[in-house]
Formats: sequence, C-alpha cells, structure tokens
Amino acid sequence: MESQERQKLTVYRPRVADFYQGKSVFITGAAGYLGVILLEILLRCCPGIRYIYILLREKRGVEPEFRLKSIFKREIFNKLKEKQPDVLQKVRVISGDLSLPNLGMSKEDELEVATEASIVFHCAAIINFLKPLKYILLHNAVGTANVIDFCKKFKKLDALVYTSTAYSNSNRNAEIEEQIYRLPFPSQRFLDMLSNGSDEDLRNLVSQCYPKWPNTYTFSKCLAENILAEQAADFPVSIIRPSIIISCWKGALPGYVEEGSGMVALGLGIGKGFVRAMRCDPEKIIHLVPVDIVANCHVVAAWSVATRRTASPFVVNCTTSSELSSCTWGHYAKVLLDMSLKHPLPKSYQSPYLSMQKSSVGYWLLSCFEHYIPAIAIDCLLWLSGRKPRLVSLYRYFERAMKSVEFFLLRDFKFRYDNFKKLDWLLDPEDKEVFYTDIKDFTIEDLAADIPTGAPFYKWDIDRKPFDDRMRSTYIRHLLTAFIKWFVVSLFFLVLYLIFQSLFQRS
Ligand SMILES: NC(=O)c1ccc[n+]([C@@H]2O[C@H](COP(=O)([O-])OP(=O)(O)OC[C@H]3O[C@@H](n4cnc5c(N)ncnc54)[C@H](OP(=O)(O)O)[C@@H]3O)[C@@H](O)[C@H]2O)c1
Repeated sequence: MESQERQKLTVYRPRVADFYQGKSVFITGAAGYLGVILLEILLRCCPGIRYIYILLREKRGVEPEFRLKSIFKREIFNKLKEKQPDVLQKVRVISGDLSLPNLGMSKEDELEVATEASIVFHCAAIINFLKPLKYILLHNAVGTANVIDFCKKFKKLDALVYTSTAYSNSNRNAEIEEQIYRLPFPSQRFLDMLSNGSDEDLRNLVSQCYPKWPNTYTFSKCLAENILAEQAADFPVSIIRPSIIISCWKGALPGYVEEGSGMVALGLGIGKGFVRAMRCDPEKIIHLVPVDIVANCHVVAAWSVATRRTASPFVVNCTTSSELSSCTWGHYAKVLLDMSLKHPLPKSYQSPYLSMQKSSVGYWLLSCFEHYIPAIAIDCLLWLSGRKPRLVSLYRYFERAMKSVEFFLLRDFKFRYDNFKKLDWLLDPEDKEVFYTDIKDFTIEDLAADIPTGAPFYKWDIDRKPFDDRMRSTYIRHLLTAFIKWFVVSLFFLVLYLIFQSLFQRS
C-alpha cells in the first residue's frame, strides 16, 4: 500500500527551485535560529527567488535594518557571502511586530509585500515556558491570526507554512497523528477573550480545555493550529511540527547551532560542568531533529501544497521516533559528555559530569549534593571577597526552567510521520540532495562530531582566558567543589553520628 502511494507520488517530480523562480517570500521569525537557517537555504538553494521579505521588530534599542546586518554576520552565511554575495541584496526588512494589528507594518510595506510575495513562512514565536499565559497567547496565537489577516490581503497566495511544534498536542496520551486536533471552543472565543477579557477569564477558559497541556507554550501552539484550521481554511496551508530542534546536520555549516533555545542552553550547561544533576528518565526517547531538516521541510512543504501535490492543511510531524533515528536521553547525555570531555568548551565552570534521576527525592538529594552545596559555599566566598554571589540564584533559575519541561523528560511520545516521509518521496533525486528531509541516516554521534567546528560558542576567542589557563581554573574549581561537597557530607554524617551516639548513651 505504502509503496503504491509512493510510486504514484513519484511519477512526475517538478523541481523545487523552479517553483521558487521569480517568486517572493515573506518570513516571520527570520532572526531566530530556525528562521536564519531557512533564510540561508532559500538564498543558497533557490537562486531564482525574487525577494525575501523578513518581518523584524526593534530589539534592545536596535532598529530592524541594523538587525539585518547582525543576521548576516552569523557564521552560517559565510559560505554564501563568499560564493554568492549578491543574493543577500534580495532580503528586504519589513519593520513590524507580530502581536500588533497589521503586524505593525507601515502602509507602504504592507502594500509591497501583499503585492509581491506569494509564499509565507510564519516561524516567529515566543518559546519561553515561564512567561505568563496572556503574553504567550498574544504573540503565538494573536500573532498567527494577524499573519492570516495579512495573507488575506495578498494578490496571490501560493502557500502559508506555519511552524508549530510536535508537542502542540502533548496533552494527549496517545499517538499524535498528522492532523489538527480541535479545541472544545472556536478559536475566535480565545481571541476575543484576549482582547476584551480579564486574565482570570482567560485562564478559566483555557482550564476548560481537556486534557490539560503541560505548559502555556504548547497550548498556544495548539490554539494557533486551530486558528489556521478555522480562519485559513481556504488557503494552501502546511503545518510543520518539529520536535526538539538541534544543530545543522549538513548544509552550509554542519554543526552550526545558536545559543538561543532552551535545549542548547541545557547542553551548554552540561558541557560546561554547571548542570551535573537532572530529573529525567534516561530510558525515554529524546526526539531531536536537525535544524536544516526542519528548514528543508518548510521549503518542500510550501512547494508541495502550492502545487497541490499534497492536500491542505498538510500537517507534518517533523520528528524522530522510536523506529526512526531514535536516541534516548541517557545516550544523548553520554554523547554530550564525551564531546565536551574531548573538546572542552570555553568559559567552563568545572569538568563535565551528569547524573540523571527519575525520582523527585533522588533528584532533590543529588541536586543538593552536586549543585547547591558547592554553590552556597562559592557564593559565600564571593560575598566575603566583595563580589556578587550568583551561583545559587542561577541554580534556582535552572530549577524553575527544568520544572517547566519536566513533563517532557519523564515520558515517551509517539508520533505518526507519514507526511514527513512523503516529503522525501515527492522529491526528484537531485532535489533530495539539496532539500533533504529524510532523517533515517541521521545519528546523534554524527551531529556531535561537527559541533566543535560548527558552533560559534566553541570559538575560544569568546573566553577571556586562553585554553590552558581556562583548563587549569576549571580543574581547580572542580577539585574545590569536590572537596566542599565531600566535606559538607562528611560533616553531616559526623553530626548525625554524634547525635545518635549521645541519644544512645543517655538511654
Ligand atoms: N527551537 C525548538 O526546539 C523548536 C521546537 C519545535 C518548534 N519550534 C518552533 O519553531 C519556530 C522557530 O523557533 P526558533 O528556535 O527559531 O525560535 P527563536 O530562535 O526564539 O526565534 C523566534 C523568532 O520569533 C521572533 N518573534 C517572536 N515574537 C515576535 C513578535 N511579536 N514580532 C516579531 N517577531 C517575533 C523572534 O524575534 P526577536 O529576534 O525579535 O526576538 C525570533 O526571531 C517557533 O515557531 C517555535 O515554536 C521550535
């Protein structure tokens, strides 16, 4: 059955880059990790593309135009700057903000994009799990509704591709299909509540949606999918649902990864010896997917819905699974540790080590021993020497962040991925080399091998200490923390022993 469908799909295979010939594209979130890779792939692999409009907001006082310069400074663009420098001129900045009506664009920009562009990649989102519900929904749900309203003004819309997450339906305790799961209320009710209701009314409405979502981010992505289902039903729509996005597998710079995401922050924390204890089930599968695979899925999905090769809405669970290139949390941690022992990271705190605990009590004991005892002692030393203590507050932040993702670290998820596979079948053999979406040969070891040469955070010039000095101070801190930990534990048992001894003697 599968092979019949496969055969049917591969009879005639128009080329992806030909589809983009003479067309213009509008991207939200182009300054983010995925957006940057998508931008680079479109510029490098679709030479006929006309313009790429990118929506950028002002950030920390930096105007959108200046932000474009910093985007092109990222290492991922080096190859392009060297081989096809002219293509960078195709990128046009549109100043705006997702959360504002009309995306906060000027009338002129709005008119230009609506006339010129016909393909939209809506990748922008807030991925912070600790932000309040209203803030997250304003950006992720209202933002999506604003993008749809804008698309309605387009002269021609070939495709609207929305980046969701594989965990948008993580509240379901069943295999997650490549379909939009509907909420019990129309999405407009949430949007009305967001503009007119109180925070409490909004929370009440969300709390009536069952089963409960593990956090507001995943709920916001499910709501955004519902908004697409209801308000963009007439559009050629694709929803790409990546699981956990990690470094570039192939592409312009294998191993390239940016520090922005929580997963990278966790990896860096482990590699630098800051994170030494984690509440996690090492047997559970971690669904990692390389960023270039995710970006290619966007490019191919737009082509595929626009040319009616797949029906709209075309939902793609872009993820590994137990049958497809799977890796457990335990294995992932081992690969990370091996990599950071072989290639030490700049600005390390101490030698890397990690212990995983499933039980909350086990984790609490481990975290006191590995994190808090040395942190309190070192903070005291910092305070006594007139410097600002910060380790305990960093560990408390880490604790909060990990609590918000604990749900994902202790269970297995099962995804259907027929549409994900279909993307590969649709492609001409030559396109499979350029816009690869097939993940079956991918291993975490291959990926890790390229990170020391591809990731900007591995460049030693970011450390104010030279390599040998850093290694020495990391090792000294490692010995110091080990001494503190064992000293405090020995003291604890000594006190316990003395207490029991005196109680014993009295009785
Ligand atoms: N990273 C993952 O592991 C992962 C996994 C599954 C799905 N996803 C999805 O993939 C997409 C991209 O993720 P990412 O890792 O590239 O995230 P990212 O690096 O945080 O990028 C998100 C981008 O969205 C932009 N943005 C947020 N709010 C905006 C607003 N109101 N107006 C304009 N731009 C706004 C941000 O702009 P600023 O630069 O101005 O802040 C940023 O450039 C998201 O939709 C996310 O939900 C990510």
